[in-house]
Amino acid sequence: MEKFDKGAIDAELAQGFPLKHRWHNRFHLEMPFGLINDPNGLTYHDGAYHIFYQWNPLGCEHKNKCWAHVKTRDFVHYTLPELALWPDDVHDKDGCYSGCGLSQDGKLRVLYTCNRKEDGVRIPAQRFGTLQDDGSVRKEEIIIPDHPEGITGHFRDPFLFERRGHRYLVIGAQREENETGTVLVYEEREDGWHNRGEVHTRLGDFGYMWECPNLLQFGSYDVLVFCPQGLAAREYDRQNIYQAGYIAGHLSLDSMDMMQHTKFQELDRGFDFYAPQVFEHEGRHLLLGWMGMPDKDDDYPSKEHGWMYSLTLPRELRLRQGHIYARPARELRDLRIQESAVEVDKTEAAGFSQPLFEGSESLMELELGEAKRVEVVLRYGLEKLAFRYDREQQVMTIDREGMKRGGRGQRQFKLFVDQSLSLQLFVDKTAVEAFFQHGEEVASLLVFPEKNIQPELEITADAPLASITGKIWELDSFKFQLNS
Ligand code: FRU
Repeated sequence: MEKFDKGAIDAELAQGFPLKHRWHNRFHLEMPFGLINDPNGLTYHDGAYHIFYQWNPLGCEHKNKCWAHVKTRDFVHYTLPELALWPDDVHDKDGCYSGCGLSQDGKLRVLYTCNRKEDGVRIPAQRFGTLQDDGSVRKEEIIIPDHPEGITGHFRDPFLFERRGHRYLVIGAQREENETGTVLVYEEREDGWHNRGEVHTRLGDFGYMWECPNLLQFGSYDVLVFCPQGLAAREYDRQNIYQAGYIAGHLSLDSMDMMQHTKFQELDRGFDFYAPQVFEHEGRHLLLGWMGMPDKDDDYPSKEHGWMYSLTLPRELRLRQGHIYARPARELRDLRIQESAVEVDKTEAAGFSQPLFEGSESLMELELGEAKRVEVVLRYGLEKLAFRYDREQQVMTIDREGMKRGGRGQRQFKLFVDQSLSLQLFVDKTAVEAFFQHGEEVASLLVFPEKNIQPELEITADAPLASITGKIWELDSFKFQLNS
C-alpha cells in the first residue's frame, strides 16, 4: 500500500467525525488522529472559504507533512476534512510545507514549499498546484527551484499578494552571512519569478529565522506578519519560544523598504498561537492561527490519544493607529444558543460565579470601581486557569499553574484599562480564546483538565466591583458533512 492512500485516509477521517475524545474541541478545527499545524492556502473561492492546514496523518511527530482541506461558507458548517496534498515525489519527499492559495480562472490554486533533504542539505522548491474535483491537489510548475544565493536552505512558506496589477510573493528566509531571519520578495514577470531581495526593516538582527510571512494591505498601510524564531523573552513580551507578530508601515516595491514602520507587535498573548495566515476577502481580513507551538510537543497531552493541536477561531482584523485589533468573526454569533443565554447584571458585586456550558462564550464588562486587582478564573474542580489584572501595574497575567496536565506557567502583558475591563471568552473543551478590551489584545491557549467537568466562571476582586454586566451563551458545535 502507498504510504499516503487518500481513499483510506479519508475513510478513516470520516469515521472519526464527530470527534469523540473528551479533550476534543467542539467549535475549533482539529483532527481525530495525527498532528496538525499551520493553516495554509486560505482562499475564498467559488462561494466558500477554503481552509487547508499542515497535517501528519501518520502520527504525532513533526514529519510526513501533508495538507488537509475543509471548506465552509459560514465558519459553522464545514465539509469533512480530506487529505489534499501529500509528499510523493522527488521534490517534496520530505514534506509539503506551508503555503498560500488563490482563486484564479475558476480554479483554486495553491503555492507551497516542497521540502527535500539530500545528505542533510535542504533543497526547498516553491511549487504551484491546483485543487481537483477529487479533492486532491495536482502538482504543477515549480517557480523557484532552490534557495537563492545569500540565503540558507531555510527558505519557505510563500505568500502571494498583488500590487499595481502585478503578482508578488513574500517568503520566509534565513541570511547565510550571519544566520538571521528575513523575508524576500519575488515579482512575477513574463519570463517567471524574480528575486527582488529582502524587505528592509529597521529590526536589524531579529532572530535566526522568519517563518510564515503574510503581506497585507489595510487602506494605505502595509502589514508584514511573520514568525521570528530565536528572540529572547522580555518582561511583558515574547514569552513563548517563538513569536507570531507584525510590523505596520509602507512597503515600497521599488526600494523594498518598509518605511515608517511600527515596532514588532505580537498578534496573540497566549501560550498556544503560531503561524497565522490571513484571508483578504470583501474588505475583511480574517485570520486563522495554529493553536500549538513548535518544539513544545510535551505540553500537549492529547498526544497520548493519537491527535494533537487545533486551529483558532477565525478573527477579523482591523488596523488602528498602527495596532491590530482582532475580533471573533461575526459568523460565530450563529453558534450562540439563544434559549439558554444567561444575563449578568450585578452592581456593587463582591464577586460572581457561574457554571459554564460544555462550550461557551462569555461577553463581560467589569466596571472596576475601587478595585485594584481583579481575577477571572475558569475553575475545573480542583484545577484552574486564571486571568489576573493588576490595575496599578497595568498588567494582565494568564496563569496556567493551577492545571495538572499539559503546559503550565504564566504569560504577562501590558493592558491599559481605565474604568472598565472588557473580556470576551470562548471556552471550548480544551481551547480557550480571550479577547481583551474589544480585541486590543487576544490570547489563545489550551488547557487539558484532568476530569471531564465543565468549568465554573468566577470573578473576584480586592474590593467590590462597581458592576459586572454581560451575557453568557452556550455555543453549538461545528457541523461537518460530506462534501456534496
Ligand atoms: C511553521 C513551519 C513552517 C513550515 C511548516 C512545516 O510552523 O515550521 O515554516 O512550512 O511549519 O510543517
